[in-house]
Amino acid sequence: MQWMHKDVLDTNQFTSEEIFYILETAKSFQEINTRAIKKVPTLKGKSVVLFFAEPSTRTKTSFDMAGKRLSADTFSLSKSSSSLTKGETLKDTVLTLQAMNPDAIVLRHNCSGAAQFIAKQVSCSVINAGDGCHAHPTQALLDAFTLNEYWKGEFAGKKVLILGDIAHSRVARSNIQLLQKLGVEIHICAPRTLLPRDSTWENIRVFSELDEAVKGVDAIMCLRLQLERQSDGLLPHLQEYAFRYCLQEKHLELAGKDIKILHPGPINRGLEISSSLADSKDSVILEQVSAGLAIRMALLYLCITGQNTQE
Ligand code: CP
Repeated sequence: MQWMHKDVLDTNQFTSEEIFYILETAKSFQEINTRAIKKVPTLKGKSVVLFFAEPSTRTKTSFDMAGKRLSADTFSLSKSSSSLTKGETLKDTVLTLQAMNPDAIVLRHNCSGAAQFIAKQVSCSVINAGDGCHAHPTQALLDAFTLNEYWKGEFAGKKVLILGDIAHSRVARSNIQLLQKLGVEIHICAPRTLLPRDSTWENIRVFSELDEAVKGVDAIMCLRLQLERQSDGLLPHLQEYAFRYCLQEKHLELAGKDIKILHPGPINRGLEISSSLADSKDSVILEQVSAGLAIRMALLYLCITGQNTQE
């Protein structure tokens, strides 16, 4: 397959064939992370800027590690350590970075559309590491990689419940686009105030009662409550939210089958998912983290080299 993309901005830019191609490429890199010497020369001489204007543990560390394991040089910039704090605009910041001729910029930003905006300003690849409430494409790809380890390409006809703060979640948006493209039926469950108001999504089953939403699903994706993006008054009380929407063992029994539990992290234990369920055999939360490293290796490789690992 010919890789056609300079940038990774949103999951809706990919066909289902391209999604599976990314998963296969990530699979081919996964083994490197289990070696005693976890480094290959694939991106030697290439430069990657990690520009994280919002906090991150998983995404930033895994992009950094992905670049280094492929022998790229990685350079980190945060909002607080950048000249954004001195009034420099995002555009001037990325033009400044571009003048140093990196091969890729990985951007996390609180503004929806920030990655699209900078991709138009620079000639190097831009990878969206999460923009506002809009998109988190590498998260959706790593979630698909995680599920594919169990589903072996059989996504069509599966049912996935996305549970929690759908309204403010870039993870939910990107996952809904990607999973629907692969033929997955989507259930969403949230209090009415945390459902999107402007949704143009079709073919989604919407629930407000968790006991109903879990019936017959193959996987449940819990979401973090994005309190930093919420206005006041959306939730009466966090304890009440937890009482109605915190995923617990009893809900798995209602699902009626063996299912996988995902959470993009960071987890608020006892609020979005019970602590025991997060640590249970049904949870694939740490597998998601490992998958994130392989997916980000694949995306850096594909974007920077534009090469193929297969015909
Ligand atoms: N899932 C996710 O994006 O986690 P971080 O905010 O820790 O990167």
